Amino acid sequence: MTDGTANETRDSGAASEDGSAIEGLESDLARELEQQSEIESFDPPEQFKAAAIWSDPSVYEEAERDPLAWWECQAEALDWAQRWETVLDDSNPPFYKWFLGGRLNASYNCLDRHVEAGRGDRVAYHWRGEGGEERDVTYAELHCDVQKLANVLKDRGISAGDVVGIYLPMIPEVVVAMLACARIGAPHNVVFGGFSPESVKERMEFSEAKALITVNRARRKGKAAPIKEPIDDLIGDVPSVETIIVIRNTDDDAPMTEGRDIWYHEAIASVDDECPAEPLDAEHPLFILYTSGSTAKPKGILHTTGGYLTGAAYTTKHVFDVKPDSDTYWCAADVGWVTGHSYIVYGPLLNGLTSVMWEGGPDYPSKDIWWEIAERYKATILYTAPTAIRAFMKWGADLPGKHDLSSLRLLGSVGEPINPKAWLWYRKVIGGERCPIVDTWWQTETGHIMISPLPGITSTKPGSAMRPLPGIAAEVVDERDGKPIEEGQGLLVLTRPWPGMLRTLYREEERFKETYFERFGSETYLVGDAARLDKDGDFWVIGRIDDVINVSGHRMSTAEIESAIVSHPRVAEAAAIGQNDEDTGQAVCAFVTLEGATSDGGDELMTEIREHVGTRIGKFARPKRLVWAADLPKTRSGKIMRRLLRDIAEGREVGDVTTLRDPDVMKDLEQKFGGEEA
Ligand code: PRX
Repeated sequence: MTDGTANETRDSGAASEDGSAIEGLESDLARELEQQSEIESFDPPEQFKAAAIWSDPSVYEEAERDPLAWWECQAEALDWAQRWETVLDDSNPPFYKWFLGGRLNASYNCLDRHVEAGRGDRVAYHWRGEGGEERDVTYAELHCDVQKLANVLKDRGISAGDVVGIYLPMIPEVVVAMLACARIGAPHNVVFGGFSPESVKERMEFSEAKALITVNRARRKGKAAPIKEPIDDLIGDVPSVETIIVIRNTDDDAPMTEGRDIWYHEAIASVDDECPAEPLDAEHPLFILYTSGSTAKPKGILHTTGGYLTGAAYTTKHVFDVKPDSDTYWCAADVGWVTGHSYIVYGPLLNGLTSVMWEGGPDYPSKDIWWEIAERYKATILYTAPTAIRAFMKWGADLPGKHDLSSLRLLGSVGEPINPKAWLWYRKVIGGERCPIVDTWWQTETGHIMISPLPGITSTKPGSAMRPLPGIAAEVVDERDGKPIEEGQGLLVLTRPWPGMLRTLYREEERFKETYFERFGSETYLVGDAARLDKDGDFWVIGRIDDVINVSGHRMSTAEIESAIVSHPRVAEAAAIGQNDEDTGQAVCAFVTLEGATSDGGDELMTEIREHVGTRIGKFARPKRLVWAADLPKTRSGKIMRRLLRDIAEGREVGDVTTLRDPDVMKDLEQKFGGEEA
């Protein structure tokens, strides 16, 4: 492809329907983006390419020639207490083991080696609080706090293999907590702060956590929401939790149970500040992270040490082309999701980067807070989700326009398909047309980015995640026979093990095999996404094929939401589906049948049920739309046909209803849904 930024005549189409968010844009900008939507691809800007770590596409061939040698080379970027003997043990698929015989420590790799190399004074995080407070936390400070907290954990009887829960807002202590666990080999189980205490309890129960690290209160949009108190109401039912460490995040007090609960600040004040990092087996569990699957029970994704760290370090370095001496990197996710684990904590720290950490959301205290922060810290790399970009588009280009964003040199997107117009807007308005965009596809299970442009090499197409990274093998296969498709749509699969892959589902080995390796055998990982390969062999990820919905990049299962709705005493039955939504990608739409003779519960009950879901799972899971249904469409064997509900919700012609027990149900619902919409 020639030099210059744009290559015309797109035939590839969009990964997802363009939302109409473009409407309402300033008309000149809208016109310009409209013209650009004809452009097929954008070459890496010359200036970027000239300074990029990788600008030669031969890296793909090199990795393909000998993938194991390639991964060994990437693993060498870490500091190993003992080198591995076997790169990959594939004798018992799908239970793969990497870097066997090797020993290392995650916290040592993130902290000690930078401090030992004289980089202790480097800022690890420019932390910014919701109220405008600022805290620069250096590598040396993290190193010190991590050792102290590790000693506190040890004093409380926590040792290698014991699970520690973490339920914290976006404060530097969340990093301290994760690395303190890693230092002593205690797998952490972080629960996103937006999940309800019920969800925390469930995740602590499933993992038999021995301790929990949390806060007295969390600040949210100017208010301080109690956290410890509601946790207390539930955690008593989880006998494995013998210790709760409470960070005093606001001046408020918190209920403390004698013998079980300790204040973080008191505990670290009186503890030794030296705790050598324990060299652990490469396959020692580093963390569990619960995520939604097709059933109501979340899956405990288990990642281990050597392989995961290799992948996190490698992808951070090359996808974001990081230069630790000059970059200020900002991944605007939450640490509670896998993006935060890999690209706020492990990847950036392994690379010795300086990051920005923002406590709040994108719209408080103002809708230009992100741009104020990017300007303030001169962020060079920004990594966020399409849902945020679409919100910014709606709020208008003049908000980022008020700030100097000229420090930015690279932009990233993650979590859901990005519609080409949002991509183009991001490139123009935020990136000033000089920043390459990396649309990164991956999952909690994959541990790190798998399909993505390389910013100094790839000519990027708006809406496409482009190609598997060097070392990664992905294919799109035919749904019926599993045969690879050269061009067209099918199921996305990964056809070769990779170091950062999940090792199992915590305590559910059968479910691990069934979910990912049953359909096409133990050597082909079923992703659960549909994708399309275009004529050039580039990947366009379309979305989930299972009952998982993706709301603003938050992954949840329809079954999880249904079971929360049904636990309301007045509900008899519920069916939840994902409906296309121009702001959030997908939104939850729930069809609800009530106990007794009434089928219409009215507005008050609707609000009550939505709140009920908020309490059971978390506010983000509340159905955007709730439809009262006298009955649900079921097959003769009683299975709810969600496909038909999706047809109604999307306003499509309803598909085949001949297998329904009572076809009239659909007529009622169609009428009802039309009424709801009006
Ligand atoms: O459907 C894909 C979508 O998000 C799913 C993974 O969700 P989760 O495990 O929560 O991890 C999110 C952050 C990595 C995938 O199966 N997804 C993620 N990134 C993209 C995407 N869909 C399209 N394009 C992406 N870049």
